[in-house]
Amino acid sequence: MAKMGTSSRVAAAIVVVLGFVLSLAVVCNGGKTSSFVRKVEKTVDMPLDSDVFKVPPGYNAPQQVHITQGDQLGKAVIVSWVTVEEPGSNTVLYWSAYSKKQKSEGKFTTYKFYNYTSGYIHHTTIRNLKFNTKYYYVVGIGHTERQFWFITPPEVGPDVPYTFGLIGDLGQSFDSNKTLTHYELNPQKGQAVLFVGDLCYADTHPNHDNVWWDTWGRFTERSVAYQPWIWTVGNHEIDFAPELGETKPFKPYTHRYHVPYKASGSTAPFWYSIKRASAYIIVLSSYSAYGKYTPQYFWLEQELRKVNRSETPWLIVLMHAPWYNSYNFHYLEGETMRVMYEPWFVKYKVDVVFAGHVHAYERSERMSNVAYNIVNGICIPVKDQSAPVYITIGDGGNTEVLATNMTEPQPAYSAYREASFGHATFDIKNRTHAYYGWHRNQDGYAVTADSMWFFNRYYHPVDDSTSAQ
Ligand SMILES: *[C@@H]1O[C@H](CO)[C@@H](O)[C@H](O)[C@H]1NC(C)=O
Ligand SMILES: *[C@@H]1O[C@H](CO)[C@@H](O)[C@H](O)[C@H]1NC(C)=O
Ligand SMILES: *[C@@H]1O[C@H](CO)[C@@H](O)[C@H](O)[C@H]1NC(C)=O
Ligand SMILES: *[C@@H]1O[C@H](CO)[C@@H](O)[C@H](O)[C@H]1NC(C)=O
Ligand SMILES: *[C@@H]1O[C@H](CO)[C@@H](O)[C@H](O)[C@H]1NC(C)=O
Ligand SMILES: [Fe+2]
Repeated sequence: MAKMGTSSRVAAAIVVVLGFVLSLAVVCNGGKTSSFVRKVEKTVDMPLDSDVFKVPPGYNAPQQVHITQGDQLGKAVIVSWVTVEEPGSNTVLYWSAYSKKQKSEGKFTTYKFYNYTSGYIHHTTIRNLKFNTKYYYVVGIGHTERQFWFITPPEVGPDVPYTFGLIGDLGQSFDSNKTLTHYELNPQKGQAVLFVGDLCYADTHPNHDNVWWDTWGRFTERSVAYQPWIWTVGNHEIDFAPELGETKPFKPYTHRYHVPYKASGSTAPFWYSIKRASAYIIVLSSYSAYGKYTPQYFWLEQELRKVNRSETPWLIVLMHAPWYNSYNFHYLEGETMRVMYEPWFVKYKVDVVFAGHVHAYERSERMSNVAYNIVNGICIPVKDQSAPVYITIGDGGNTEVLATNMTEPQPAYSAYREASFGHATFDIKNRTHAYYGWHRNQDGYAVTADSMWFFNRYYHPVDDSTSAQ
């Protein structure tokens, strides 16, 4: 979407108010359209000299430090960072209270994008870690060293509690900083972030100015150097710009963010899976081929068979473009993938699907729309207790405008929707229960604007709809 001018922002504000009045007037059997109307103030990028973008002091100091899970089970971590003056060391030094100092070696890479040249981007995987253990690590050996820490997840098993944070479409505006701050201060204490795509929005700047990839790396370091963020690709990671001579999709993203895709038998970093605690997390790519006979299709077909709910009761899917979205922005963009894969999600009883892309928040009822066969006319979503709940959480706060224009009346399948920025947590308690809460940025850190107790689809497939009770 293009950026909005001031006049269209005013128009958008009027629409929000009108939309609110309309939603009161329309008698709909859908869920709730929140009466909360976010003030439509200007959302702008934080200036380049902001505190959050500061380059760490010292010669060749590592910056943009980030970690993600490095294998299928959570015993490995990929540590990534950038050095600017010279390649420096690829070594990560790490230890726990119970182990002596060890070293792991990685590699560095660089890339060019139009007239931008990246720094030295280091990726080093640390393996054979103990579960549920706090590790300290140091990067920048030789010149300026910087120390961080992380905690490995508990061993994979059906009753392991674990709390995931959910952030999407973050960007680097003042609102993005609010979202991250609220996530950090949420007393629910997320242990790893499931990130549903659209990271830095560098592509919204002239020539996709990749300097904004670097600033985003420095901005998010305060969280992602200490806990893994599980990456999903969004449209803003494609960076396809033939007008600049840049025709290799995902070039900056794939150089900067590594994921353990080979560990799950995937052949590309855009779709993969991990197990973490009691969850099996499948990451899909809305922007890679997903039709029949494509690599992603074959992989997902095998992958869903591999999920053992006795081991990982919670089956979570991440993607960027939502399948169910009742905003007029990005309307139906997820539809072709839905047609391909929704029958599998129902068959394998996926618990929840998280998506981004639409810059707003929405949660669905459990429903499916898999009966249509071109000629039978059966194409309305129906209640389905084997189906996932679909949550759109593309409300991280980037500079593109907030999606406020909703389809009216609210569809019956839509349980809750609100045009605000925020984040969520998915707090797995045991094999049957998980508490989900969405937080809007305007509220206190502990307040949930929308929440739901999830009942596991394998161990406790009881109606958990918030409207049925
Ligand atoms: C890249 O080119 C743009 C204009 O096309 C210019 O404004 C910018 O300074 C250049 N950047 C570098 C790093 O050369
Ligand atoms: C971003 O948020 C952090 C933590 O709340 C704060 O210290 C910092 O000043 C903020 N920076 C900007 C540019 O808003
Ligand atoms: C599924 O996981 C359970 C618990 O870890 C294990 O006992 C069982 O053998 C696994 N089933 C298969 C088919 O691997
Ligand atoms: C809201 O979306 C509908 C459907 O795309 C469109 O017809 C309408 O003009 C939009 N309203 C505004 C104010 O953008
Ligand atoms: C699972 O967690 C829920 C919510 O905390 C709790 O009510 C339930 O008793 C727990 N089940 C078991 C078997 O402990
Ligand atoms: Fe997007």
